[in-house]
Amino acid sequence: MTTSTASETLGFQAEVKQLLHLMIHSLYSNREIFLRELISNASDAADKLRFEAMADEKLLEGSPELQIQIEFDPDARTISVSDNGIGMSRDEVVQQLGTIARSGTAEYLNQISSESRPDANLIGQFGVGFYSSFIVADRVDVFTRRAGAASEDGVHWSSDGQGEFSVEAIDRPERGTRVLLHLREDAAEFADDFRLRSLIRKFSDHIAFPVLMPAITDKESGEDDKDKEPGKLETVNTAKALWTRPRSEISDQEYQEFYKHIAHDFQDSLIWSHNRVEGKREYTSLLFIPARPPFDLWNRESPLGLKLYVQRVFIMDDAEQFLPLYLRFVRGIVDSNDLSLNISRELLQQDAAVDSIRSALTKRVLDMLAKLAVDDSEKYQGFWDEFGRVIKEGPAEDPSNNEKIAGLLRFSTTHSGQEKQDQSLADYVSRKKKGQDKIHYVTADSFKAARSSPHLEVFRKQGVEVLLLGDPIDEWLMGHLREFDGMEFRDVRRGELQLGDADDQQQDQDGDDGDDGDDGEHKEFLDRLREQLKDEVQEIRVTDRLTDSPACLAIGEYDMGTQMRRIMEAAGQSVPDSKPIFEINMDHPLIQQLDGESNDERFGDLTKVLFDQASLADGRQLSDPGAYVQRLNRLLLELSS
Ligand SMILES: Nc1ncnc2c1ncn2[C@@H]1O[C@H](COP(=O)(O)OP(=O)(O)OP(=O)(O)O)[C@@H](O)[C@H]1O
Ligand SMILES: [Mg+2]
Repeated sequence: MTTSTASETLGFQAEVKQLLHLMIHSLYSNREIFLRELISNASDAADKLRFEAMADEKLLEGSPELQIQIEFDPDARTISVSDNGIGMSRDEVVQQLGTIARSGTAEYLNQISSESRPDANLIGQFGVGFYSSFIVADRVDVFTRRAGAASEDGVHWSSDGQGEFSVEAIDRPERGTRVLLHLREDAAEFADDFRLRSLIRKFSDHIAFPVLMPAITDKESGEDDKDKEPGKLETVNTAKALWTRPRSEISDQEYQEFYKHIAHDFQDSLIWSHNRVEGKREYTSLLFIPARPPFDLWNRESPLGLKLYVQRVFIMDDAEQFLPLYLRFVRGIVDSNDLSLNISRELLQQDAAVDSIRSALTKRVLDMLAKLAVDDSEKYQGFWDEFGRVIKEGPAEDPSNNEKIAGLLRFSTTHSGQEKQDQSLADYVSRKKKGQDKIHYVTADSFKAARSSPHLEVFRKQGVEVLLLGDPIDEWLMGHLREFDGMEFRDVRRGELQLGDADDQQQDQDGDDGDDGDDGEHKEFLDRLREQLKDEVQEIRVTDRLTDSPACLAIGEYDMGTQMRRIMEAAGQSVPDSKPIFEINMDHPLIQQLDGESNDERFGDLTKVLFDQASLADGRQLSDPGAYVQRLNRLLLELSS
């Protein structure tokens, strides 16, 4: 063990340097958060010790009272935050206070440091943690010893936050960690009794362990000589786990501070729900909806889930079993009385109590969001803009809550024609035409492509609203929605046009609705087209879908849609090829001209150009773009000659 006693100097991981730099320059107006971060770490350390001590009581070393202590010295310009929690070994110190483990952080840091003036919220999303000490300190010393280790296995870590840190072995009889901040000159104001106490009450009141400060004893004598009785300490915070207190006694601000503590967020949460359940299962949950997604919401490896407590004892972070994936943005805690204190991640997966808590918490979150949509639609819209894409995963993952989730969805529709997704299905249904029995939708690669789809023409003409879906996940989503308010969902591109009673009149007038495969008076013409496109299409028919366009592509009733096909192919699955249906508008002058075309070559060119154009409007790639351009140019030349 000779090497471990030596002092050595090590470099911070590149990301840490980047973070330190960003933080010091962007968090100046939030400097006081350093205290919250250090107390939060001290509290985590106490939680961890209490957890480990359940299996090994010796770790408590005969002093089971866990606490946090804050000291300061205005003359020396120092503040220290000490805990008697789990502490760190030398390896842990090097690892925890020299790197950032969370995956995806390097990328994220690069992204935000490229902004000219990154705002605090971006960095806050990341959880600046321990490193926030360097916003107020130009040197930080950490003295620590892991619980249960010998006193000579203490470690002293020291750094000026510039790029390197040193570690050396020290003798440290007390277990746990003391963080000593040497304040910058312009941060001297923090080494002040009143300032520290008010920060603790404001940001850290909810910490479940006592936060102690030197007691102020002399109240009678003049203002200026309040004296501290040597050695006497007093508790500054409420020191009770927040969720164990009655809702009526907790202020909004206390909830928000608690949220920031567990979510590592700078911003207030949007809403929360705090509930105690008694009876067959007993548990308390406190669930928050963040205002903004964490930077790694879309990273598969990012931590997610709730903080799990059993009978007020902290068990684990990121217990992902308590909520489905599509609610992975929810932050909070669950404190169960039914689970065993020895529960492990593996056991959680098999526990019936966990399943029933999970389904109750899922409903709770969905209900909380539904209520928000009713009570404060603007706030809900803010939620949807940030998290809508995650909620869209819901119907596929959680069929049992299909209806509830459908109620939360927001869409763009032809009603406003705007890109903003702000219409609910209930809004849509409230505007349905007499006799309309389907909710019509069109999917495309983008909102704009959806909005200009030729399939919408007949709907526009008849005043029937259509959902405009341009997100890659939308086709997947619609495939999993069952029905809403008794109305089925219907892809406007799929199969035969189905306008319900709303289109009866139209069909009667035209006399041919094409849905029985009867080509009627156009048989000869259709056969001529089929000859030209026999390799490209599965079927050609006369359509009612179009008013302005000459032709469009439809997909077979049971064929896979374009977006879905792309998702499947991207996931490496082989998808059976299916050819589109080519539909033509007999009322269109181009089609009528084509019908009368006697020159076979020109007939072929025009047919293929119309087909390729219909493919483009459908968001497909042309199989031979060069040939399309040549044909089109031939036709244009004829026009101009
Ligand atoms: N007082 C402490 N006692 C024991 N370990 C600590 C203490 N302070 C920090 N650590 C260790 O250092 C790590 C890094 O702390 P830091 O505050 O940067 O991140 P975090 O607490 O894991 O996450 P965040 O603060 O973003 O929620 C912690 O995960 C913990 O392992
Ligand atoms: Mg921390």
